[in-house]
Amino acid sequence: MKILLIGGGGREHALADALSRENTRVELIAAPGNPGIADLARIIPVNASDDVALMAVAEQEAVNLVVIGPEAPLAAGLVDQMRLRGIPVFGPTMGAATIETSKADTKAMMMAAGIPTAHAETHRNAKDARDAVKARFGAPVVIKASGLAAGKGVIVCHTIDEAYAAIDRILDDKAFGDAGNECLVESFMTGEELSLFAITDGTDILPMIGAQDHKRLLDGDEGPNTGGMGAYTPVSLSTPALIDDVTERIFLPTLHALRKRGTPFTGLLYAGLMLTPEGPKVVEFNCRFGDPETQAILPMLTGSLLEPMLAVARGARLKHQSALTWRAGASVTTVVASEGYPDAPRTGAGIELPSLSDDIRVYHAGTTRDADGVLRTSGGRVFGVTAVADTFAEAQRRSRDAAARIGFDGAIHRRDIGWREAERRAAEMATVHAAAIHDAAVRAEIDAGTDARAS
Ligand code: GLY
Repeated sequence: MKILLIGGGGREHALADALSRENTRVELIAAPGNPGIADLARIIPVNASDDVALMAVAEQEAVNLVVIGPEAPLAAGLVDQMRLRGIPVFGPTMGAATIETSKADTKAMMMAAGIPTAHAETHRNAKDARDAVKARFGAPVVIKASGLAAGKGVIVCHTIDEAYAAIDRILDDKAFGDAGNECLVESFMTGEELSLFAITDGTDILPMIGAQDHKRLLDGDEGPNTGGMGAYTPVSLSTPALIDDVTERIFLPTLHALRKRGTPFTGLLYAGLMLTPEGPKVVEFNCRFGDPETQAILPMLTGSLLEPMLAVARGARLKHQSALTWRAGASVTTVVASEGYPDAPRTGAGIELPSLSDDIRVYHAGTTRDADGVLRTSGGRVFGVTAVADTFAEAQRRSRDAAARIGFDGAIHRRDIGWREAERRAAEMATVHAAAIHDAAVRAEIDAGTDARAS
């Protein structure tokens, strides 16, 4: 089984790890890969944006499956081109990928189909958008660039003036280029966020376990937004009942709406949800595996990832596949980033990788090997350090401690990945403890009463 994996970040390293782990007969080829993926795959130095060269590799190597990690080649139609040539590929077509590349279209589709999401208006003109904020939304409010903006196009505004400034940046200053040709003015939602992924054949889904990522740079969810400083799974809010609810009210109607508009979605559908007091609502959809969540989720998988991916790529139905299975315990990923990230990361630092225990995975996200064979930083997020353990607290501690041991000049990482889950579990323990004390006191009273009557 020959697989071509496209991409070169932490998400792709985690995919390579999962695919190579499950089957010794898998031969992995990665383009362009990275020095970590190079331990698992044959590297072909072709960029993920070079569609012509990627198709040539797929054909020359006669691969059985192509897996595309990043959104850019999906948005550019690589799946459409590969399918025209009969290459089995896991991922959505360009039309289906608009679920991520056009927030305006996706919002309109969700509102028309009654899929739970925040109310929003789309505007091309800054004056109309400002009028909408003033007359109909107020503050807080969320202003979003409609197109792909490298995770930076969503601006939560706490005052009306902040909203005006965000609208001007997007529509007039073109801070996100053409991604800001349209801007959404969206009601602010409260609650906790949850990332839920599902493999889909366009009709049915195989949902994964829920994860939470940490977008802010600093401990306590402070500082600027980043691509993600860490993630963990499972999330205790993500119960089987919640996943069923999201399946029935969000995933399946969304897939139905996409089929109806002629752009059926196959591949990995990522629902970014807000768990509001009225139930889960869609914040955004992405057309690919999330990063860094994938680095926490995939090490928990006990069954096959390859089988459902292959089924989808071959056009088979998922209803014949068994549900994905997961080990007990928890997984925590701490991102180690370069100093200056996210605005101006300093790269080129030499990296010392310590020897770590087997239960720690160090996924490469922004590394390169120089001509002398020295491993160096080459990006803002450099590693995702994942620990899988029987308890959440143990996974959290091991991931944090291992991240602290990775040495390069200016390495930064958060020390509190999973803090919400830690607080939830502490509160749960306190409730159990209080109930036990209460039960013991009641029992003692009953015993004392019994004794009193007996004497
Ligand atoms: N973790 C956010 C994303 O992958 O877009």
